[in-house]
Amino acid sequence: MIIILLGPPGAGKGTIAGEIKKEKDIPIISTGDILRKAIKNGSDLGKEAQSYVNSGKLVPDYLIMKIIEERIKEKDCKKGFMFDGFPRTIQQAVDLELLFKRLKHNIDQVFYFETSKNTIIERLSDRRVCTKCGAIYNLNYNPPKIKDKCDKCGGELIQRDDDKEETILKRLEVFNDETLPLVDYYQKQNILTKINADQDLDDRFKEVEARLKELGLVGKK
Ligand code: AP5
Repeated sequence: MIIILLGPPGAGKGTIAGEIKKEKDIPIISTGDILRKAIKNGSDLGKEAQSYVNSGKLVPDYLIMKIIEERIKEKDCKKGFMFDGFPRTIQQAVDLELLFKRLKHNIDQVFYFETSKNTIIERLSDRRVCTKCGAIYNLNYNPPKIKDKCDKCGGELIQRDDDKEETILKRLEVFNDETLPLVDYYQKQNILTKINADQDLDDRFKEVEARLKELGLVGKK
C-alpha cells in the first residue's frame, strides 16, 4: 500500500499516519522529520535545509527528491509506505511519477485533510513532540500524562522551532501557493479522498479507515 497524506501544516497528517500504522505496519516517510533530524545532526543535508525549514519556506525540490529516492529503496519499504508532507509542489509530484514509473510503483490513494486557519494556529501552538520517538501530543486535546514527558518512551517533549505564530502563517501561505494545486492534480487522476480534518481524531480516522477498507487496502472487519 502506498498512500499520500496531504494537507496544510497542523492538519494532523503526522497524527493520522501514526493511527494508520497501528492498522497497517508500513513505514511513515515524513520529509519534515527527515529534515529536522538532519538539521539536528548537522549533516550536509541539514546545513542546506536549515534556513528554509526554520523560516517556513520549502526546501528545494532536488534535495527532497534525493531523500525520497534513497528512503523508498530501503528494505522496510518493500510492503509499502505512507508519505507525510510529500509531495508538496507540482514539480515534486511529477518527479515522483517518473520515479514510480522506473520502480514500477503506484499511488493507491491520496488523502487531503481540509482544515480551517483557526484550527491550524490553535493546534500548532499547543503541539509538543517527543525528541526521542517522535510521538505527537497536544496540550489541549491529547496532553501527556506527565508534563514534558513522552507517555510512550519517557523522552523529553519540546515545541518545534517552526511552531511560532509568524512561521506558522508563512507555512500556511506557502501551502496555499505551492501545495494546494496538488488537490486538483490528484483529483483529476481520481485517486484523492477529502477528509474534514477539523473534526476530532476518532471521527477523522474512521473516515480514512472506511476508505482504505473500501479500496481493499486494509482488512475488512
Ligand atoms: P512538516 O514537518 O511536514 O510540517 P507541516 O506539513 O507543516 O505539517 P506539520 O508536521 O506541522 O503538521 P501535521 O499535519 O503533521 O500535524 P500533526 O499531526 O503534528 O514540514 C516542516 C518543514 O520542512 C516545511 O515547512 C518545509 O520547510 C520542509 N519540508 C518538509 N517536506 C518538504 C517537501 N516535500 N518539500 C519541501 N520542503 C519540505 O498535528 C498538529 C497538532 O494538532 C498536534 O498537536 C496534534 O496532537 C493535534 N491534532 C491533530 N489532529 C487533531 C484532531 N483531529 N483534533 C485535535 N487535535 C489534533
